[in-house]
Amino acid sequence: MKARLAAFCSHGGSNFAAIADAALRGEIPIDVALMIHNNARAGAAARAAERGIAAAWVPRGGFPDDGAYEARLQELLDEHAIEYIALAGFMQLIPRSVVRRYSGRMTNIHPALLPLFGGRGFYGSRVHEAVFAAGMKVSGPTVHLVDEEYDCGPILAQRAVSIEDCRTPGEIAARVLVEEHRLYPETLGRLVRGLYRIEGGRAVLAV
Ligand code: GAR
Repeated sequence: MKARLAAFCSHGGSNFAAIADAALRGEIPIDVALMIHNNARAGAAARAAERGIAAAWVPRGGFPDDGAYEARLQELLDEHAIEYIALAGFMQLIPRSVVRRYSGRMTNIHPALLPLFGGRGFYGSRVHEAVFAAGMKVSGPTVHLVDEEYDCGPILAQRAVSIEDCRTPGEIAARVLVEEHRLYPETLGRLVRGLYRIEGGRAVLAV
């Protein structure tokens, strides 16, 4: 049985594509059934179309209030029988009702080693600029469960990448992104296989 997953994206959607491709190659027991984006120009929409994955544009600003926005998200998730949600470069807070409903089944990828360089204001290139300015010698992606705060849920996986020879934040971003594309599908595969358990707020891998 494959787990039905929805990806949420705001921009290019390269992580979404990496997850979808790993699933299409049969490397993980996941069916990427839906991609929701909040940006009409998101490259993720073309990536969904190329792979025959249903896509929906759900801009928060297009709804009269939070209730109507949440109802539309829930309706789409129900319509596609979604069991797991992977935030993949989604630059907006997910409504509390959705976070609660998908507790333990919603993940995010962050392009730094949390809890460093995370939280409000740390997203996309800003993260790598801060990592660069701090003179860090390692960085790398974090995949974590989503709770009601930014970048705070239990960490499922991280991968350290040497950035000692990176000369610009852009070079760091490129190096970290390569690892994001490996780490996110692998981690989702473990999650849907039930290999994580939560102990005292920490995620523990049972292997
Ligand atoms: C990725 O680097 C992801 O880690 C980051 O946005 C990029 C999206 O790229 N996410 C955040 O900064 C969230 N705080 P993509 O659209 O090509 O996957």
